[in-house]
Amino acid sequence: MWALTLYRSTIGKKIIMAVTGLVLVVFVIGHMAGNLQEFLGPARMNAYAAFLKSTGELLWIARIGLIAATVLHVLMAWQLTQIKRAARPVDYTKREPQVSTLASRTMRWGGVFLLVFIVFHILHFTTGTVFPIASQPGDQFSHTDVYGNVVSAFRTPWVTAFYVVAMLFLLLHLFHGAWSSVRTLGLSKPSDHPLHRRISTVIAVVVWLGFSAIPVAVLLGVIR
Ligand code: HEM
Repeated sequence: MWALTLYRSTIGKKIIMAVTGLVLVVFVIGHMAGNLQEFLGPARMNAYAAFLKSTGELLWIARIGLIAATVLHVLMAWQLTQIKRAARPVDYTKREPQVSTLASRTMRWGGVFLLVFIVFHILHFTTGTVFPIASQPGDQFSHTDVYGNVVSAFRTPWVTAFYVVAMLFLLLHLFHGAWSSVRTLGLSKPSDHPLHRRISTVIAVVVWLGFSAIPVAVLLGVIR
Protein backbone atom coordinates (compact mmCIF):
# COMPACT_ATOMS: atom_id res chain seq x y z
CA MET A 1 0.00 0.00 0.00
CA TRP A 2 1.39 3.43 -0.97
CA ALA A 3 0.58 5.01 2.42
CA LEU A 4 2.63 2.37 4.23
CA THR A 5 5.53 2.74 1.79
CA LEU A 6 5.40 6.51 2.37
CA TYR A 7 5.30 6.10 6.16
CA ARG A 8 8.30 3.73 6.10
CA SER A 9 10.64 5.99 4.08
CA THR A 10 12.54 8.93 5.52
CA ILE A 11 11.22 11.33 2.88
CA GLY A 12 7.70 9.97 3.53
CA LYS A 13 8.06 10.79 7.23
CA LYS A 14 9.23 14.29 6.30
CA ILE A 15 6.23 14.72 4.00
CA ILE A 16 3.85 13.61 6.79
CA MET A 17 5.63 16.04 9.12
CA ALA A 18 5.26 18.90 6.60
CA VAL A 19 1.58 18.24 5.81
CA THR A 20 0.55 17.86 9.46
CA GLY A 21 2.61 20.94 10.33
CA LEU A 22 0.78 23.00 7.70
CA VAL A 23 -2.59 21.76 9.05
CA LEU A 24 -1.51 22.99 12.50
CA VAL A 25 -0.36 26.34 11.05
CA VAL A 26 -3.86 26.83 9.57
CA PHE A 27 -5.43 26.01 12.95
CA VAL A 28 -3.10 28.38 14.79
CA ILE A 29 -3.94 31.27 12.42
CA GLY A 30 -7.68 30.60 12.79
CA HIS A 31 -7.45 30.28 16.57
CA MET A 32 -5.50 33.53 16.84
CA ALA A 33 -8.01 35.40 14.66
CA GLY A 34 -10.91 33.99 16.73
CA ASN A 35 -9.21 34.95 19.98
CA LEU A 36 -8.78 38.57 18.87
CA GLN A 37 -12.55 38.93 19.40
CA GLU A 38 -11.64 39.22 23.09
CA PHE A 39 -10.94 42.88 22.17
CA LEU A 40 -14.57 43.26 21.01
CA GLY A 41 -16.06 42.53 24.42
CA PRO A 42 -17.78 39.69 26.29
CA ALA A 43 -20.91 39.45 24.11
CA ARG A 44 -18.95 38.94 20.90
CA MET A 45 -16.32 36.56 22.35
CA ASN A 46 -18.82 34.41 24.23
CA ALA A 47 -21.14 34.23 21.19
CA TYR A 48 -18.19 33.01 19.13
CA ALA A 49 -17.32 30.35 21.74
CA ALA A 50 -21.00 29.29 21.94
CA PHE A 51 -21.15 29.04 18.16
CA LEU A 52 -18.09 26.72 18.11
CA LYS A 53 -19.65 24.52 20.80
CA SER A 54 -22.99 24.46 18.95
CA THR A 55 -21.41 22.79 15.93
CA GLY A 56 -21.50 19.44 17.79
CA GLU A 57 -20.10 16.68 15.59
CA LEU A 58 -18.21 19.15 13.41
CA LEU A 59 -16.31 20.38 16.46
CA TRP A 60 -15.40 16.80 17.31
CA ILE A 61 -14.30 16.07 13.75
CA ALA A 62 -12.03 19.14 13.91
CA ARG A 63 -10.72 18.12 17.35
CA ILE A 64 -9.97 14.55 16.20
CA GLY A 65 -8.27 15.92 13.05
CA LEU A 66 -6.11 18.22 15.19
CA ILE A 67 -5.20 15.45 17.62
CA ALA A 68 -4.31 13.13 14.71
CA ALA A 69 -2.19 15.86 13.07
CA THR A 70 -0.40 16.58 16.37
CA VAL A 71 0.26 12.89 17.16
CA LEU A 72 1.61 12.21 13.65
CA HIS A 73 3.72 15.40 13.72
CA VAL A 74 5.32 14.47 17.07
CA LEU A 75 5.72 10.79 16.12
CA MET A 76 7.49 11.68 12.87
CA ALA A 77 9.75 14.14 14.70
CA TRP A 78 10.68 11.44 17.18
CA GLN A 79 11.29 8.78 14.50
CA LEU A 80 13.35 11.15 12.32
CA THR A 81 15.46 12.04 15.37
CA GLN A 82 16.10 8.33 16.03
CA ILE A 83 17.08 7.81 12.37
CA LYS A 84 19.42 10.80 12.51
CA ARG A 85 21.02 9.61 15.75
CA ALA A 86 21.55 6.10 14.35
CA ALA A 87 23.23 7.58 11.27
CA ARG A 88 25.59 9.70 13.42
CA PRO A 89 25.97 8.02 16.81
CA VAL A 90 29.03 10.13 17.66
CA ASP A 91 28.34 13.87 17.74
CA TYR A 92 30.55 16.41 15.94
CA THR A 93 33.51 17.44 18.09
CA LYS A 94 33.48 20.91 16.56
CA ARG A 95 30.39 22.41 15.02
CA GLU A 96 30.13 25.82 13.42
CA PRO A 97 26.64 26.36 12.03
CA GLN A 98 26.77 27.83 8.51
CA VAL A 99 23.21 28.52 7.38
CA SER A 100 21.19 27.23 10.33
CA THR A 101 19.17 29.65 12.45
CA LEU A 102 18.26 29.75 16.13
CA ALA A 103 14.79 28.68 15.00
CA SER A 104 16.02 25.61 13.12
CA ARG A 105 18.30 24.57 15.99
CA THR A 106 15.48 24.76 18.54
CA MET A 107 12.87 22.80 16.57
CA ARG A 108 13.14 19.66 18.73
CA TRP A 109 13.22 21.08 22.24
CA GLY A 110 10.99 24.01 21.29
CA GLY A 111 8.53 21.49 19.88
CA VAL A 112 8.58 19.49 23.12
CA PHE A 113 7.92 22.70 25.07
CA LEU A 114 4.99 23.56 22.77
CA LEU A 115 3.51 20.10 23.33
CA VAL A 116 3.67 20.62 27.11
CA PHE A 117 2.14 24.08 26.61
CA ILE A 118 -0.78 22.69 24.56
CA VAL A 119 -1.61 20.07 27.23
CA PHE A 120 -1.47 22.75 29.96
CA HIS A 121 -3.50 25.13 27.80
CA ILE A 122 -6.36 22.66 27.21
CA LEU A 123 -6.46 21.83 30.94
CA HIS A 124 -6.45 25.59 31.57
CA PHE A 125 -9.06 27.03 29.19
CA THR A 126 -11.07 24.09 27.80
CA THR A 127 -11.57 21.91 30.88
CA GLY A 128 -10.76 24.42 33.63
CA THR A 129 -8.84 21.70 35.51
CA VAL A 130 -5.81 23.87 36.27
CA PHE A 131 -7.74 27.14 36.24
CA PRO A 132 -7.73 27.86 40.00
CA ILE A 133 -3.95 28.36 40.05
CA ALA A 134 -4.34 31.06 37.44
CA SER A 135 -7.20 33.05 38.89
CA GLN A 136 -7.59 35.74 41.51
CA PRO A 137 -9.52 34.95 44.71
CA GLY A 138 -13.20 34.72 43.86
CA ASP A 139 -12.68 34.01 40.15
CA GLN A 140 -14.26 30.82 38.88
CA PHE A 141 -13.90 28.87 35.68
CA SER A 142 -17.01 29.02 33.51
CA HIS A 143 -17.91 26.86 30.51
CA THR A 144 -19.95 29.69 28.99
CA ASP A 145 -18.04 32.85 29.96
CA VAL A 146 -14.87 32.27 27.92
CA TYR A 147 -14.24 36.04 27.91
CA GLY A 148 -14.25 36.06 31.73
CA ASN A 149 -11.91 33.03 31.91
CA VAL A 150 -9.37 34.80 29.72
CA VAL A 151 -9.56 38.02 31.76
CA SER A 152 -9.25 36.32 35.13
CA ALA A 153 -6.38 34.09 33.93
CA PHE A 154 -4.21 36.87 32.56
CA ARG A 155 -4.69 39.23 35.49
CA THR A 156 -2.07 37.04 37.16
CA PRO A 157 1.33 38.27 35.88
CA TRP A 158 3.11 34.89 35.87
CA VAL A 159 0.34 33.32 33.79
CA THR A 160 0.67 36.17 31.27
CA ALA A 161 4.46 35.75 31.33
CA PHE A 162 4.15 31.99 30.75
CA TYR A 163 1.89 32.52 27.74
CA VAL A 164 4.07 35.28 26.27
CA VAL A 165 7.19 33.07 26.57
CA ALA A 166 5.27 30.12 25.04
CA MET A 167 4.32 32.39 22.11
CA LEU A 168 8.03 33.17 21.59
CA PHE A 169 8.65 29.43 21.18
CA LEU A 170 5.73 29.32 18.75
CA LEU A 171 7.27 32.26 16.84
CA LEU A 172 10.56 30.35 16.42
CA HIS A 173 8.83 27.07 15.56
CA LEU A 174 6.65 28.72 12.92
CA PHE A 175 9.49 30.81 11.50
CA HIS A 176 11.40 27.65 10.61
CA GLY A 177 8.51 25.19 10.20
CA ALA A 178 6.25 27.22 7.90
CA TRP A 179 9.23 27.66 5.57
CA SER A 180 10.81 24.20 5.74
CA SER A 181 7.49 22.36 5.25
CA VAL A 182 6.95 24.15 1.94
CA ARG A 183 10.50 23.22 0.89
CA THR A 184 10.02 19.56 1.92
CA LEU A 185 6.92 19.40 -0.27
CA GLY A 186 8.87 20.88 -3.17
CA LEU A 187 6.50 23.81 -3.48
CA SER A 188 9.16 26.50 -3.33
CA LYS A 189 11.65 27.44 -5.99
CA PRO A 190 15.32 26.71 -5.25
CA SER A 191 16.83 29.84 -3.74
CA ASP A 192 20.31 31.34 -3.63
CA HIS A 193 19.35 32.84 -0.26
CA PRO A 194 18.48 29.96 2.04
CA LEU A 195 17.79 32.37 4.88
CA HIS A 196 15.22 34.41 2.94
CA ARG A 197 11.78 33.43 4.10
CA ARG A 198 9.38 36.32 3.81
CA ILE A 199 6.03 34.52 4.07
CA SER A 200 6.97 32.38 7.04
CA THR A 201 8.43 35.46 8.78
CA VAL A 202 5.15 37.34 8.30
CA ILE A 203 3.08 34.35 9.51
CA ALA A 204 5.29 33.82 12.57
CA VAL A 205 5.32 37.50 13.57
CA VAL A 206 1.57 38.07 12.98
CA VAL A 207 0.68 34.94 14.98
CA TRP A 208 3.06 35.95 17.78
CA LEU A 209 1.69 39.50 17.98
CA GLY A 210 -1.95 38.37 17.68
CA PHE A 211 -1.69 35.78 20.45
CA SER A 212 0.53 37.82 22.80
CA ALA A 213 -1.66 40.91 22.50
CA ILE A 214 -4.45 39.31 24.56
CA PRO A 215 -2.60 38.38 27.78
CA VAL A 216 -0.63 41.64 27.63
CA ALA A 217 -3.81 43.71 27.09
CA VAL A 218 -5.46 42.04 30.10
CA LEU A 219 -2.42 42.63 32.30
CA LEU A 220 -2.32 46.30 31.26
CA GLY A 221 -6.04 46.68 31.95
CA VAL A 222 -6.95 47.37 28.30
CA ILE A 223 -9.19 44.29 28.36
CA ARG A 224 -11.04 43.85 31.65
C1 HEM B 1 -2.33 33.88 24.18
C2 HEM B 1 -2.58 32.82 23.47
C3 HEM B 1 -3.85 32.00 23.52
C4 HEM B 1 -5.07 32.29 24.08
C5 HEM B 1 -5.51 33.56 24.79
C6 HEM B 1 -5.92 31.15 23.84
C7 HEM B 1 -7.24 31.03 24.26
C8 HEM B 1 -7.99 29.87 24.23
C9 HEM B 1 -9.30 29.70 24.81
C10 HEM B 1 -10.05 30.78 25.57
C11 HEM B 1 -9.71 28.42 24.57
C12 HEM B 1 -11.02 27.77 25.00
C13 HEM B 1 -12.08 28.04 23.97
C14 HEM B 1 -13.46 27.58 24.38
O1 HEM B 1 -13.60 26.81 25.34
O2 HEM B 1 -14.40 27.99 23.70
C15 HEM B 1 -8.64 27.77 23.83
C16 HEM B 1 -8.65 26.46 23.38
C17 HEM B 1 -7.64 25.85 22.69
N1 HEM B 1 -6.46 26.42 22.29
FE1 HEM B 1 -5.85 28.28 22.67
N2 HEM B 1 -5.21 30.20 23.12
C18 HEM B 1 -3.93 30.68 22.93
C19 HEM B 1 -2.89 30.04 22.26
C20 HEM B 1 -2.97 28.78 21.71
C21 HEM B 1 -1.91 28.13 20.96
C22 HEM B 1 -0.57 28.77 20.64
C23 HEM B 1 -2.37 26.90 20.59
C24 HEM B 1 -1.71 25.82 19.79
C25 HEM B 1 -0.46 25.82 19.40
C26 HEM B 1 -3.70 26.75 21.14
C27 HEM B 1 -4.48 25.63 21.01
C28 HEM B 1 -5.73 25.46 21.59
C29 HEM B 1 -6.48 24.22 21.55
C30 HEM B 1 -6.03 22.92 20.86
C31 HEM B 1 -7.69 24.45 22.23
C32 HEM B 1 -8.81 23.47 22.49
C33 HEM B 1 -9.88 23.64 21.46
C34 HEM B 1 -11.07 22.77 21.82
O3 HEM B 1 -11.53 22.80 22.93
O4 HEM B 1 -11.51 22.05 20.92
N3 HEM B 1 -4.03 27.92 21.81
N4 HEM B 1 -7.62 28.68 23.62
